Amino acid sequence: MVVAIDGPAGVGKSTIAALLAEKLNLYYLNSGSFYRAITYAHQLKNEDILNKDAVLETAKNIKISVKNSKVCVDGIDVEDKLHTLDVDKYVSQVSVDPRVRDIVNSIIKNIAEGIDIIAEGRDITTVVFPNADFKFYFDANAEIRAKRRYIQHPDGQDFETILSEIKKRDKNDKEKPVGSLKIANDAIIIDTSYLTIPQVCEKVIKAIKAQDMR
Ligand code: DC
Repeated sequence: MVVAIDGPAGVGKSTIAALLAEKLNLYYLNSGSFYRAITYAHQLKNEDILNKDAVLETAKNIKISVKNSKVCVDGIDVEDKLHTLDVDKYVSQVSVDPRVRDIVNSIIKNIAEGIDIIAEGRDITTVVFPNADFKFYFDANAEIRAKRRYIQHPDGQDFETILSEIKKRDKNDKEKPVGSLKIANDAIIIDTSYLTIPQVCEKVIKAIKAQDMR
C-alpha cells in the first residue's frame, strides 16, 4: 500500500505523515530529505552549489540510505544536518535539476519496493507514485505556515523574513519545469490552515477507511 502526500513547505506534511506512519504501521519516507542530503553533501565539498553538473556528480557519487528512520550519506547519519539555513537556502535549486530528480526518485522507488509506505513531498502523487492507493494534497495559507514556523523557532528569523522565504519557495516549487508542485486530479485536498495535527490525521484516516470500503 502506498499513501502519497504532496503540498507546499510548512503545511504539516512531515509531522502528520510521521504520525500516520505510526498509527497505520507504514514506513515513513520524507522525499525532501533526499534533496537536502544531496545539498548538504555537496556543500561539504566546498564546491559551487549552483554548478548543476557538479551537484549531479555529487548526487551520483554518494550513497543515500535510511537507517532507523535517519537519512544517511555513505552510511553516516546526517539527519540533524538537513535543516540548516544553508541547506534551506539552496535545496530548492538542487531539486530543480531533472537529472537529480531521477536519482532521488529511483532511491525512493527502491526503498518502497514491496513494503507499505507513506511518502510525502511535492511530486509524490503526480510523478513518483502516480498509482498510489491513496493521494492527499495538503494546503494552508502562506501567513499561517509562516506563523507556525515562527512559533517553532522564535529565536530564528523574524516573521516577515520567514513569510517571504515561504512565498519564494512556493513559487520555486510550483514553477519547476519537472516535478513541480501540482494537485493530482484524484488527490483529496485538505486545507490544514485551521486544523490541529490530530484533526488532519483523523481526516486522512477517515478518507482512507472510506475509500477502502468501496
Ligand atoms: O519538504 P522539504 O522542505 O524538506 O523539501 C526540500 C526541498 O526539496 C524543497 O525545495 C522542495 C524540494 N522537493 C522536491 O522538489 N520534490 C519533492 N518530492 C520533495 C521536495
